[in-house]
Amino acid sequence: PSQRNALADRARALLKQHNAVLVAHYYVDGLLQDLALETGGIVSDSLEMARFGRDHAAQTLVVAGVRFMGETAKILSPEKRVLMPDLDATCSLDLGCPADDFAAFCDAHPDRQVVVYANTSAAVKARADWMVTSSCALDIVADLHAKGQKILWAPDRHLGRYIQEQTGADMLMWNGACIVHDEFKGLELELLREQHPHAQILVHPESPKSVVDMAHVVGSTSALIKAVVEGTAQEYIVATDNGILHRMRQLAPGKTLIEAPTAGNSATCKSCAHCPWMAMNGLANLVDCLESGQPQIHVEETTRVLAQRCINRMLDFTA
Ligand code: 13P
Ligand code: SF4
Repeated sequence: PSQRNALADRARALLKQHNAVLVAHYYVDGLLQDLALETGGIVSDSLEMARFGRDHAAQTLVVAGVRFMGETAKILSPEKRVLMPDLDATCSLDLGCPADDFAAFCDAHPDRQVVVYANTSAAVKARADWMVTSSCALDIVADLHAKGQKILWAPDRHLGRYIQEQTGADMLMWNGACIVHDEFKGLELELLREQHPHAQILVHPESPKSVVDMAHVVGSTSALIKAVVEGTAQEYIVATDNGILHRMRQLAPGKTLIEAPTAGNSATCKSCAHCPWMAMNGLANLVDCLESGQPQIHVEETTRVLAQRCINRMLDFTA
């Protein structure tokens, strides 16, 4: 603990010295989430991370999350320095959607509006008409559908299927998945629900259909936190990365939070529901990146300008 305190003190001092702001996701280590809030930064879902980074006056943004979050920050604010504790922190959705293959998919369907999830590379976004996050995907696709547009969707197949069911839109899908949410199991959740009949079931829409179908609330990380804070129930079964429990416990201290079951089950697989790439963010590499100014996010300018259009469309739509 004393080493952790010393690192946290050093990180605080460096953030101040460099006039930098820490932008953290709800899945990263609770120490980083707390530090972000304490030092005038933010902990939030991916939509609000993007908006906060763009609007903040600080010239250095430190993004504690995964690579696409750092890239989005840089695409929106090319004049700012965007640091990340570890650039190898990627995402299975991003890895599963290579830009060249994706471009060929788009070329084969020129009549469709291309809607991509935030969890993609800058090069994939450069090819898209719209970027969405889980907090606005439903509204944006519903709007496009109402205007008679057909959609090409990538890369998360579970989120895509959920949106298609909700909106009735004509959606052609890429076959990607999140390795964390894909592990939640419907049958085991059914058993857990029997043991906790009064619990509210909260599900991130990157989860499989059998799990989403049992949900009382389906939504982005922010929406799931809001559901715990504002909900009248005492117990909540949470089907998303367990990093979120830190903030839920802080904001709703009296409530009982139960992790949804994964394939490995929580007794044998403590970290099944925790993203290995989010876990790469820690106090030590946060201090290192502030000290050395590395690693930094760079996005090639032609790609950046193209990618910025689809992100701005989303930000304008949700403003
Ligand atoms: P949110 O936009 O809901 O925070 O989700 C980001 C993410 O990576 C979920 O796995
Ligand atoms: Fe990607 Fe899943 Fe990790 Fe989110 S939790 S960053 S979707 S791998």
